[in-house]
Amino acid sequence: MIQSRKRWWAVGLSGLCAAAALATVGCRDEADEERSGYVIGFSQCTVKEPWRVLFNQRLLEAADRHPDVQLVILDADDRTEDQVAQMRTFIRRRFDAILISPKEAPGLTGVVEEATEAGIPVIVLDRGVNTEKYAAFVGADNLQIGRAAGREAVRLLGGPGQAAGVIYEICGGLATPPAQERRDGFREIVTQEPGITLLGGLDADWKKDRAQTIMQDALKTHDRIDLVYAHNDPMAHGAYLAALDAGRADRMKFIGIDANPDEGQHWVRAGELTATFLYPTPGEKGLEVALDILAGKPVKKHYTLPTRMFTQETVDEGGVPVEN
Ligand code: FRU
Repeated sequence: MIQSRKRWWAVGLSGLCAAAALATVGCRDEADEERSGYVIGFSQCTVKEPWRVLFNQRLLEAADRHPDVQLVILDADDRTEDQVAQMRTFIRRRFDAILISPKEAPGLTGVVEEATEAGIPVIVLDRGVNTEKYAAFVGADNLQIGRAAGREAVRLLGGPGQAAGVIYEICGGLATPPAQERRDGFREIVTQEPGITLLGGLDADWKKDRAQTIMQDALKTHDRIDLVYAHNDPMAHGAYLAALDAGRADRMKFIGIDANPDEGQHWVRAGELTATFLYPTPGEKGLEVALDILAGKPVKKHYTLPTRMFTQETVDEGGVPVEN
């Protein structure tokens, strides 16, 4: 657990840390006077991946700029049922606003609706849910990112009309809109190329070790793989490590998504990944939108944060913008 002034980052609702963090936050029903300013809860689906650690850090820094905000971050440790329980705790305690980055859409849609029906503004971050009953969504355009990755793959394999080769795709959690859209956008582009064969498509739940295992098997089954497209950088790097072990990495290209400075950008600079696409962390904007709502200001339903592409040639200048 990290405490930064009145900010808490707790590990799992059932843990003592979470209980302690929540105990510091007054309950609206019983002790209105205990609470001054706004109490905002954030249910983060996991911190097992570095992108989410960065996401929480940036959100905590943003909250530190608002002395009137108490922010409680809970980590659901990749468990949908814990995330549902966290949301219900925020609702029961009448938090002023709730941020959520859902583990997956089907299992979290109902509780987002419950919070909205209880009159609490819910700001959904990064992964969407299957309802319109939330106050606002902040994320990036994953279809656009998928298409841009597809165009880069086509370029790397010889260019439109001439591209030839075998692509192996490793998917993030397929119950999440980002994985579905990253897959669909990519397929839209590469399936226009008769010379490209697209293999794979297994769900590695965004995890590096699972992607590495999937890739070890793929390398045994397929004599030819020219390019790996993974829905995030940890999985692309897991695939790279498997190919390196098999002595085939130098004959392959690897495309990932996220572009964390210490991860994707670093691996591109080192020549281990060929390209990565920025997936901006949405916490700061999410907090700003929550505070606007609480101040009675009008907000949009949907905020799309911009992406950028990083290759070895462009990584040191901060990447390049991506066309639609
Ligand atoms: C982290 C993560 C990122 C990915 C995002 C998609 O949990 O897997 O790597 O871009 O979630 O929601």
